[in-house]
Amino acid sequence: MAAADGSWLKKVSQADRKRVNPYTAQQEAADAGMHLFHDNCAKCHGESGEGRYNRPGLRNERVAHATDGELAWILKNGEPWKGMPSWSSLPEQQRWQIITYIRSIQTDNSSGSASVVK
Ligand code: HEC
Repeated sequence: MAAADGSWLKKVSQADRKRVNPYTAQQEAADAGMHLFHDNCAKCHGESGEGRYNRPGLRNERVAHATDGELAWILKNGEPWKGMPSWSSLPEQQRWQIITYIRSIQTDNSSGSASVVK
């Protein structure tokens, strides 16, 4: 499997890209997202998004710079032929909660905790 190169970003439409996470920086959503991440994502992306084997970590620059809408797109559609499944079977609300969690582990470094509330 080739290393992730971010080519999926080119497939996201302008309208999808502009979507905004309704649960941005909400602690409850981050907590729910953490459990969902543990159940669905950790086996490939690591318990705290550090990446595993040839699967990318989610604390990288590309994910940090991706818009909410771009992350929502890849969760909905996946990149199946590269090994990233579609998560369209999860309710959209849960996909946004996971995105809140992903954001929280990116800003985690300075605070030393999983808190997203500013
Ligand atoms: C079966 C393994 C697997 C599972 C489970 C999985 N992923 Fe992935 N994911 C991948 C692979 C492989 C890629 C790289 C795709 C590519 O090459 O662009 C990826 C890419 C991504 C990316 C883009 C990263 C980047 O640097 O471009 C995000 C965001 C992501 N996954 C989030 C998730 C979330 C959130 C979940 C849980 C709901 C999840 N993934 C579950 C394998 C997985």
